[in-house]
Amino acid sequence: MAAPSPETRRPAEVRGMFDQIAPTYDRANHLLSLSIDRNWRWRTARAVSRRQPQRVLDLCCGTGDLSLALARALPQATIVGADFSHAMLQRAQAKAPREAFAQADALRLPFADASFDALTAAFGFRNLSDYALGLREFRRVLAVGGRLAILEAAEPTLPLFAHAYRFYFHRVLPKLGGWISGHREAYDYLPRSVQRFPPPAELSSMIAAAGFAEVTCRRFFGGVATLHLASATLY
Ligand SMILES: C[S@@+](CC[C@H](N)C(=O)[O-])C[C@H]1O[C@@H](n2cnc3c(N)ncnc32)[C@H](O)[C@@H]1O
Repeated sequence: MAAPSPETRRPAEVRGMFDQIAPTYDRANHLLSLSIDRNWRWRTARAVSRRQPQRVLDLCCGTGDLSLALARALPQATIVGADFSHAMLQRAQAKAPREAFAQADALRLPFADASFDALTAAFGFRNLSDYALGLREFRRVLAVGGRLAILEAAEPTLPLFAHAYRFYFHRVLPKLGGWISGHREAYDYLPRSVQRFPPPAELSSMIAAAGFAEVTCRRFFGGVATLHLASATLY
């Protein structure tokens, strides 16, 4: 249950892919989602801000949009963005010169135990080569009671909508994404990676098994994105 399927790409391939699409990532993202993705990140930042965390790690931060939303929602907090793609981080730093960004692998974080009060990951967790290992690492760097927020793309379940969405996601989006970025394979990978990602109930169980309680899942826009929230428990 914990390990992704064998067709999952190797970490070096994933990093190389994100390095390649970094220059066009924001434009493609907002066009392909009609900018609805901005609202999902804003809702994630708002959910995390409710308990006023002071130290927040935005993991798989990419070009920094969620890091920026967190900085707006939590003006007093320290926000650290981390990602293993240097090209994505360069864009994040240019967009948010006042925030701190670090190059780091989500499966081997260069942070001490209990360093953060909240940890977020938007559209990045799905790419990890070992979900259980990732969740254990997230738990390690969170203080007891620290909040975890995983925003991910998902497959909607409402029959008619799911059918139409699947057509868009599997047939139209790869062509558009390929056209905008010049890297069609990255946008072929996107729907395949969502298809093989554990469904929300399974992900909730994995989060609980890694040392989290109060696990909840919200669905956005008919289920095309999900937000899992949880609190780190005592080991
Ligand atoms: C689809 S982008 C999402 C970026 C950003 N969070 C957003 O909301 O737009 C996924 C990001 O996860 C990063 N990533 C994937 N696997 C990672 C890992 N093992 N460690 C660190 N970053 C990783 C990629 O480099 C990429 O920037």
